[in-house]
Amino acid sequence: VYGFEAARAVVEQWFSVPASGSLESGFYDGNTRSQRILEALGFEKEGEGPRFARALSQQVPGSDMVLTRARWQARQGFRLVTRRLTIRPFRKDDAPALVRMAVPEVARNMSRIPPVWSEAGAVAFIAESAFRGVPGFRLAIEFDGACIGGLGLGGGPVGIAYFLAPEYWGRGLATEAMSAFLPSIFDRFPLSSLEADHFEDNPVSGAILRKFGFEETGRQLGTSKARLEPAPVITYAVTRETLKVQP
Ligand SMILES: CC(C)(COP(=O)(O)OP(=O)(O)OC[C@H]1O[C@@H](n2cnc3c(N)ncnc32)[C@H](O)[C@@H]1OP(=O)(O)O)[C@@H](O)C(=O)NCCC(=O)NCCS
Repeated sequence: VYGFEAARAVVEQWFSVPASGSLESGFYDGNTRSQRILEALGFEKEGEGPRFARALSQQVPGSDMVLTRARWQARQGFRLVTRRLTIRPFRKDDAPALVRMAVPEVARNMSRIPPVWSEAGAVAFIAESAFRGVPGFRLAIEFDGACIGGLGLGGGPVGIAYFLAPEYWGRGLATEAMSAFLPSIFDRFPLSSLEADHFEDNPVSGAILRKFGFEETGRQLGTSKARLEPAPVITYAVTRETLKVQP
């Protein structure tokens, strides 16, 4: 157990540096203890061949192992806990809550949420939201044990989106969720900046973005499943350096 704990600490330290890429390791044939530790940490076999064993002063057959950042992150999952909220992967049983949330006031401010959602549509949304260790996922926002909204990271350039069920608006919950989520993005992924946008007629979202240091970058037309026509959207960006962390 000590060997595993020590190895995990080293791996965590390695990936805590955003610029660190894949981590390489290996073991000598027959060293099943070492093999088991590496496999438990998520390392995968990359190749095999003789390696120089300093203790024996000779080449000894062994295996080369690699742990990519994406694989490590996928195995960490994604869970954040704030004063009132838990941010965690969506589960299948969140579908009914999503169906209830898909009302026009929410949907018209999002691109992907329809104004009326079927249970099957919500289940498909949950499936495509899965966290796989790289940008391109959505997470549930949980309050008092109930799924009350969602947030996501994806697209190219990479951007964020978020929504809450209307009965939870106006209590600072989106700000609280973003206070945890935004810094965690820059901690986990080697991104230099993040994008966001909101429809011009949805100033609340702009107020939230500006609190975190997002600055306006332009205007364009955006679409929503709950709008008949494309509508004006204000685009924003924040960088790793300009992100304002809220207390
Ligand atoms: C956007 C949304 C997540 C905000 O959630 P929320 O929990 O009510 O937000 P918060 O309470 O944390 O913060 C809202 C901020 O907007 C401000 N605000 C409220 N009404 C406003 C208005 N009409 N104009 C400008 N700012 C306004 C509030 O004062 C607050 O700022 P403050 O904390 O500095 O006072 C929620 O309204 C929502 O889900 N809307 C539908 C989906 C959506 O718009 N998502 C964003 C897509 S880009």
